[in-house]
Amino acid sequence: MGIRKLIYEGDPQLNKVSREVSEVNERIRTLLDDLVDTMREEGGVGLAAPQVGVLRRVCVVEVDEGEVYELINPVIISQEGDQYGSEGCLSVPGYYGDVHRPQKVVVEALDRNGKKQRYEAEDFKARAFCHEIDHLDGIVYTSKADNLRKVEEKKE
Ligand code: NI
Repeated sequence: MGIRKLIYEGDPQLNKVSREVSEVNERIRTLLDDLVDTMREEGGVGLAAPQVGVLRRVCVVEVDEGEVYELINPVIISQEGDQYGSEGCLSVPGYYGDVHRPQKVVVEALDRNGKKQRYEAEDFKARAFCHEIDHLDGIVYTSKADNLRKVEEKKE
């Protein structure tokens, strides 16, 4: 298990534009593995490399358990529709906010073998892809969110 240390909102690295990956090598594959481990450890549905202080265009998404998307140099090549709903971020613990996102996106990215892949995502998965890709451009969802609010403690 490769658990990496998260960085949090307020750290200027979260607002920087990450660099493209020019070669998908063992180091990048280890980064992917560590992002997945860290995302799962923290209970997230996505994680981007800059959130662990690595300014490279790499992120992972796992909305449905076991269905992991590993995205290297992802680009949204088309989008349609609009959805409005709440999201959170492991770099902004304890908060949620409402964000407009496309209802559907098509994303192209390299996989861990350096092969170009195309993924379609709708609904919450599209939201997760957009949220993670925003991180690669130094955008944290709080800059887009309305009604940013603290998670209420659940006592059950
Ligand atoms: Ni996030």
